[in-house]
Amino acid sequence: MPHDMNNDPASVRAFFGGKADTWDSKYPDDTPAYQAGVAELGLRAGQSALDAGCGTGRALPALRAAVGPHGTVIGADLTPEMLRAAVRAGRDSAALLVEADAARLPLRDGCLDAVFAAGLVHHLPDPAAGLREFARVCRPGARLALFHPIGRAPLAARRGHRLSDDDVRAEPNLRPLLAATGWRLTEYDDAEERYLALAVRLGE
Ligand SMILES: C[S@@+](CC[C@H](N)C(=O)[O-])C[C@H]1O[C@@H](n2cnc3c(N)ncnc32)[C@H](O)[C@@H]1O
Repeated sequence: MPHDMNNDPASVRAFFGGKADTWDSKYPDDTPAYQAGVAELGLRAGQSALDAGCGTGRALPALRAAVGPHGTVIGADLTPEMLRAAVRAGRDSAALLVEADAARLPLRDGCLDAVFAAGLVHHLPDPAAGLREFARVCRPGARLALFHPIGRAPLAARRGHRLSDDDVRAEPNLRPLLAATGWRLTEYDDAEERYLALAVRLGE
């Protein structure tokens, strides 16, 4: 991902605001990958889930399908253009869309059963603060999926970047970071066709 951009809110909005209109058409074949990623959360009917950094809401229909009509799905993103694109795609019928910083969520403690975050965590200026915020809004036993529909290595190659050892998504960095922020990493898969780090919220 673009490590040449800053992760402060204004820079994030400027960067992703300009990409919102073409986001879905640029990646038209990712829907099954998102469905499979959401399935890893093991959500049940009636539960509550957040898509953090939801962008145009590509995961929202799968999250809605998982929790059913009586569940709760929230999509939060910092970039208004992304949220407007989500509305144009009709994904506001699957979720409540909120313009919010993933590190300062307008949600009460322990209200969620799961957080799905695709392509987000390395964009946070302070990933530990973001993961801690996810833990705050999740009940003990809730699940977190850090996801991308492509592995780190092919993504870096596509962007002309090299993988760096300090990448927060690399397992040696992510595992202790999750442990320090209220999570236990239960699965890590950084393959060609997907990146998935699955964690469970610690606590009784
Ligand atoms: C790579 S895009 C992924 C979008 C979507 N999750 C997907 O998979 O299509 C990253 C998204 O994270 C959002 N974002 C970045 N930093 C954020 C933050 N601190 N809080 C909320 N959203 C953020 C951006 O606006 C952008 O929509």
